[in-house]
Amino acid sequence: MSLSIDFLGFRLKNPLMLSEGPLSGDFELLKLVSEYRIGLIFTKGIRLKPAISPVPFIRKYERSLINADWSCIGMNEWLDVISKLDINVPLVTSIAKNYVKPDTAVEMAVELVKAGSKAVSFVDYNSNELIKTVRLARTKLKVPIMVKLPPFIHDMEKVLKSLVRAGVDAIAAMDSIGPILSIDIETGEPLLGSVDGSGYLSGRYILPVTLKYIYEISRFVNVPVVGVGGVTDYRSALQMIMAGATGVGMVSEPLLKGPGIFNKVEKDLKSYLKKKDIGNISDLRGITHKIVEERKVSANMRAWINSDICTMCGACEKVCYPGAISKNLKSYTVNRISCVGCGLCESVCPVNAVTFK
Ligand SMILES: Cc1cc2nc3c(=O)[nH]c(=O)nc-3n(C[C@H](O)[C@H](O)[C@H](O)COP(=O)(O)O)c2cc1C
Repeated sequence: MSLSIDFLGFRLKNPLMLSEGPLSGDFELLKLVSEYRIGLIFTKGIRLKPAISPVPFIRKYERSLINADWSCIGMNEWLDVISKLDINVPLVTSIAKNYVKPDTAVEMAVELVKAGSKAVSFVDYNSNELIKTVRLARTKLKVPIMVKLPPFIHDMEKVLKSLVRAGVDAIAAMDSIGPILSIDIETGEPLLGSVDGSGYLSGRYILPVTLKYIYEISRFVNVPVVGVGGVTDYRSALQMIMAGATGVGMVSEPLLKGPGIFNKVEKDLKSYLKKKDIGNISDLRGITHKIVEERKVSANMRAWINSDICTMCGACEKVCYPGAISKNLKSYTVNRISCVGCGLCESVCPVNAVTFK
């Protein structure tokens, strides 16, 4: 039973990755996080010049995060960090491509590799710029080259295939979603301190968007994919892998709970593999593709409530918009003629008394 994977020529202890964010933003933080059970670390987005963000720039947003975080140390300081850093976790230097032209981004990558970087990634909200950058980088760099994609790209298949043709070695998806806006109703002020108050959404809420993205990327191309966006626990990590991800990145959850979350997710993934008697985490990679191809869709199933389990809480009746659920003496029951099979009642039942037949 093993969690280790091969990725970009590195042997990782597990598929969990710390993606670009404040926790990998300088020498001290990189030293600190490398003590946790993290398979691979991406640096915070590297820019030519240091930058600071108007405050506040990271806020909890219900169970997720919003941020307008452009803070970073500059390229010169990064070269110093990379040349001095001695950690036991593979590190990918991530270049904030969106601030510079492709040739400058590639020059930055060349400098970082000279300083000791063993792999680079380019991040941009413009996917065509990423294709140009990878094409150029491939002629100048021998180390593995990655990109991180923005959410919602058009012409996904074309962009992905162009990236592969340009020579990309792995693809991460996705960056946080934005721009977004959130407002304090006491004052009417935006919650973030950026000039127009806008920012980006990350964390738990974006998981289903990322999952579909990873599923599509791994359908179109055959390079390793890192699923990042909304992973908070071993369940969401498993979903990423089942959708086709090789690696699973996190940023918001370690910010909210501390980097010890990596140790917890690793432990829970091991328990899951043991319970299910699965030899290697890679055996689960992409299994949802096969299941989707083979499964028969049906419009004939209807809800059924197990009266032995039902606690009569009434949650199912409240959400049953066709009015098919009614209360009997011992439990709730479903009128199979009025039930439309939507599944909402099953998903709100706290004791799993509702099934489909
Ligand atoms: C506070 C904060 C700062 C971030 N900074 C960067 C960055 O510098 N470069 C980058 O590519 N992504 C950055 N991201 C995006 C994350 O790397 C990640 O793609 C996104 O947050 C989704 O993952 P999550 O849901 O696990 O947070 C940042 C995210 C947060 C929350």
